Amino acid sequence: MKKNLSIIILAAGAGTRMKSNTPKVLHKISGKPMLYYSIKEASKLSDDITVVLFHQAQKVQQEMEKYFSHVHFVIQDHNNFPGTGGAVMGITPKYEKTLVLNGDMPLIQAQELEKFDHKDATIVMSVLELQNADGYGRVLIKNGRVEKIIEQKDANERELNITTANAGIYQFETSFLRENLPKLSNNNAQKEYYITDLVEMAIQEGKVLIPLTVEVENFKGVNSKVELAEAEVIHQNRIKKEFLKAGVIMRLPDTIYIEEGVEISGESILENGVTLLGNSKIINAHIKTNSVVEDAIIQNSDVGPMARIRPLSELYETHIGNFVETKKAILHGVKAGHLSYLGDCTIDEGTNIGCGTITCNYDGVKKHQTLIGKNVFIGSDTQLVAPVKIEDDVIIAAGSTITKNISKGSLAITRAPLKVIAGYFYKLFGDKQ
Ligand code: UD1
Ligand code: MG
Repeated sequence: MKKNLSIIILAAGAGTRMKSNTPKVLHKISGKPMLYYSIKEASKLSDDITVVLFHQAQKVQQEMEKYFSHVHFVIQDHNNFPGTGGAVMGITPKYEKTLVLNGDMPLIQAQELEKFDHKDATIVMSVLELQNADGYGRVLIKNGRVEKIIEQKDANERELNITTANAGIYQFETSFLRENLPKLSNNNAQKEYYITDLVEMAIQEGKVLIPLTVEVENFKGVNSKVELAEAEVIHQNRIKKEFLKAGVIMRLPDTIYIEEGVEISGESILENGVTLLGNSKIINAHIKTNSVVEDAIIQNSDVGPMARIRPLSELYETHIGNFVETKKAILHGVKAGHLSYLGDCTIDEGTNIGCGTITCNYDGVKKHQTLIGKNVFIGSDTQLVAPVKIEDDVIIAAGSTITKNISKGSLAITRAPLKVIAGYFYKLFGDKQ
């Protein structure tokens, strides 16, 4: 980590264009709030990170404190100094360089941010060459030199056609920032203090300004739900590419969704439509079509198609077939091939769970445990009313409702007597022949 860099992340804006009550920077990409990614990447470069908040500040701060403990949060004096320039006022960066990031840029990566480090420049600013710069500030360039940045709302017809855009990230000499922030005015269409006006000031003062052309893949700004969805596609592709490179097999990767925080290792296979959420760990496992895995560990096992492995499940050397749901289920060497609910249970090696088995874990108030030992055969359509313990080597006959513990080696069977009444059909409906 470099020791001369402070980072300010702007996250105070209302995010009106998101059309949402959720603060913009808390909208999620690959399962984590956008601002999470800015802070995560910033943390690789600096130990002096300030996040500027205003709209729903407390909510944003609380959410970020779940992930980060080393960040300063400040509240912008938004009523008096609205705008991206106003956001930076009143902060005292510790180091001689200050990198300013937008909290609505979830695709930034530390190695790209390092390119802003130019010893002699007063400002290094990010520039995007786009086909259509709609929504961005336009960069006015004359004779190959940047003149200024014009915000979309302040631009005239001719300026709107400019396709060179301001990506919104800048590295400043901290002393320049300190001296010039008080000089900003809000004499513009939005009556805001624009950080972008510092560019023109630097040029007029004859300072060194370096425009750094960056890729939209890394510096896309998210202002609307459309852009949120577009950024997530890029982010997903990035996550999946890393896993593919590491040796994971994916069938139709475009149909697979993997959240930030998921780990996949060994010779794992993901079929089409698989969703992996939270901090799931997939180790040498085969996850089949349209299965959903959330905060679970799956090792040396196969799951699905169409299975749902819910939080705190741990599957080792286990086979899970279609329409099986598990939750807080610890399974070692188990087969559950079809249509079951296995919740709050521990099941041991060699045990077979028949089709239609349900652990009745909830009594309406509390959850209870089901413990099943080794080499147990649970017949189809069994209900295990928890709390209940099935010891090793037990057979449970199909259709049984088990309400008490079953000891080692037993057969357990519940049967309502079967009645057969010959000819009853014809008595009821008559003989149609
Ligand atoms: C800004 C730039 C624009 C650039 C674009 C790139 C300005 C004036 N314009 O426009 O040139 O092309 O980013 O994405 O800087 N924020 C605050 N306090 C405020 C206002 C905004 O902290 O008072 C934060 C927002 O939360 C956001 C960031 O600053 O994270 C950018 O604000 P936003 O309103 O999205 O600016 P843009 O219009 O996108
Ligand atoms: Mg923006």
